[in-house]
Amino acid sequence: MSEKATILVQLDTDAQPSVFDRVVAVDAGVQHLFSYGGVSPQTVMPLVHGCIFTRGGKDLARTAIFIGGSDVTAGEAVLSEVKKHLIPQYGLSVSVMLDSNGSNTTAAAAVRAAGRHLDLSSAKSLVLGGTGPVGQRVARLLAKVGGHVRIGSRQKDRAEAVCAVIRAHIPGANIEAVSVSSSTDGPQALGDRNLVVAAGALGVVMLPKKLWTTAKALRVAIDLNGVPPAGIEGIELNDKGVERDGVISYGALGIGGTKMKVHKAAINKLFETNNAVLDIEEIYALALHLQ
Ligand SMILES: NC(=O)c1ccc[n+]([C@@H]2O[C@H](COP(=O)([O-])OP(=O)(O)OC[C@H]3O[C@@H](n4cnc5c(N)ncnc54)[C@H](OP(=O)(O)O)[C@@H]3O)[C@@H](O)[C@H]2O)c1
Repeated sequence: MSEKATILVQLDTDAQPSVFDRVVAVDAGVQHLFSYGGVSPQTVMPLVHGCIFTRGGKDLARTAIFIGGSDVTAGEAVLSEVKKHLIPQYGLSVSVMLDSNGSNTTAAAAVRAAGRHLDLSSAKSLVLGGTGPVGQRVARLLAKVGGHVRIGSRQKDRAEAVCAVIRAHIPGANIEAVSVSSSTDGPQALGDRNLVVAAGALGVVMLPKKLWTTAKALRVAIDLNGVPPAGIEGIELNDKGVERDGVISYGALGIGGTKMKVHKAAINKLFETNNAVLDIEEIYALALHLQ
């Protein structure tokens, strides 16, 4: 008998399920996409039961769950609740992926790019916009790989809160919160850094050119903002390993191509088994194996 159609159940924590995530799911080859908005831990149980009590045996691998939305903390809470309602000891499980705001796939693509030029286990990094979904995941991955990571925010206590979350996942993580609110903060934060990743909000200049071109230890600069002006002034959207003023640079589209490949590969991975959980570490591992 032929295989059952693939079904991706999109659980979005925002009121409107992300169009971006829907388009990528279709382009990844998903045959049916069921999209739900406004999903919270309180509404998850029947959605998970609909996945695990319908198909059986190997057909369960043809159903999978994708968790998205603009808030990665809300997405993590939904993921945690989804796992509670799977019953793997009886084979009643489906694979699950978390990618709120593209945070995991974008962070995996960015860190993979940085790792092509630096030994990340010893590199010193600065993540600007480190309190957003993408920045948090970039910082967590860099901390996991082992280097020293600074997380920048206009409000240091927000960066401290992100550090606390990362330490809960990675005990002993070498991370530090820094303020980037005043004109003297920038040079201090960037001082001895080898890598800077700008994951600030759309169209916001996070790092002026005169700062990064005079940072002596800087080797790699990655800007993830796709809406001009650039988040790192002087870096172009399409930069992909281009050298500018002695620094290897990547722009949002230079990273975006890899991000799309990683996103599609992760969706396809969901349908290989009925028990995968794809969060940042698993998605990064997948990114490292892509051509
Ligand atoms: N290239 C790709 O493939 C790709 C994929 C997905 C996303 N992205 C891009 O990645 C970036 C990060 O996404 P996100 O969703 O994590 O961003 P976000 O939540 O909108 O913003 C990230 C952080 O930027 C800081 N920020 C906001 N407004 C600011 C302002 N006016 N001045 C200075 N800092 C400001 C805030 O940190 P504090 O308040 O703590 O300072 C915020 O937490 C975005 O530019 C997004 O478009 C790129």
